[in-house]
Amino acid sequence: MLEPALLPTPLVDCTDPALARAGVELRLKRDDLLHPTVPGNKWRKLAPNLAAAVEQGHTRLLTFGGAYSTHLRAVAVAAAALGLESVGLVRGEELADRPRNWSLRAAEEAGMELAFLSRAEYREVTGRGAADEATAEGIQRRWGPCLVLPEGGSNALAAIGAAAIPAELPDLGARDVVCCPVGTGGTLAGIAAGLPAGARALGVAVLRGGAGYLEGEVARLHRAAYGREFGNWRIDHGHHGGGYGKVPAELAAFAERFERQHGIALERRYVAKLLAALHDLAAAGEFPRGARLTAVITGLPDPV
Ligand SMILES: Cc1ncc(COP(=O)(O)O)c(C=O)c1O
Repeated sequence: MLEPALLPTPLVDCTDPALARAGVELRLKRDDLLHPTVPGNKWRKLAPNLAAAVEQGHTRLLTFGGAYSTHLRAVAVAAAALGLESVGLVRGEELADRPRNWSLRAAEEAGMELAFLSRAEYREVTGRGAADEATAEGIQRRWGPCLVLPEGGSNALAAIGAAAIPAELPDLGARDVVCCPVGTGGTLAGIAAGLPAGARALGVAVLRGGAGYLEGEVARLHRAAYGREFGNWRIDHGHHGGGYGKVPAELAAFAERFERQHGIALERRYVAKLLAALHDLAAAGEFPRGARLTAVITGLPDPV
């Protein structure tokens, strides 16, 4: 078990005048305080996977990520904490001979062995997934027996881990909407599955062009983890800010204002997009008056 720093994570009121005018309450579920190096949804999604790895006698984890992947760093730290080896397959073979950026250096310093794949190879391996027999065989041949975690860490166990978030929210009912950013869909899938009857989940997509695909991913995770689909969630695709990793000036200004007003440092690529989207949707009258939103603060700002 990867010991959390703080569990359950704090729930704090964060209604501001603009939201109050729209008749909407906002609370923050401070999952960013869960663990200093495996924060937020990384801890929620990894904890059950690590427990399974240890139980199944695995000694090595293998996963995938881009040059600045939070998931790679989190897996590296979490594996080391449990005495497991870790391997990270990184998108971009050109990175192999360059000095490591801060993120890959952190993963390596935590003990992760990195290998670099061309973009085509990476797309092929992550696209087919470790469930594909040829892919699994190729990985085991090259890296030996290991537990393979998907890119972003979203699998059935990850969704089950994230389902503990709504279980920490008391008195959820028909006026509640529990909200999170969506990258691969695992966090949203878990939140929706963990809600009591009447409450709803809202995901805000942080990447462009994910409509349809992301809904399919959430439904797939629901079938894999719970053997059924859920009808209590939706994804907003109108607030990706131009695409994954893009932080337009308007979003940056919102984040700075929010940080000043509420004294909390915001991760920009996911968390700030979520909070800006909620403010925008509330101002547009998308939530009924009396609605209570709970925004899950799924991560910490980058250390640099
Ligand atoms: C801070 C943060 N929030 C949200 C997400 C998206 O979660 P998911 O991939 O489960 O949709 C990520 C993904 O890596 C993240 O780093």
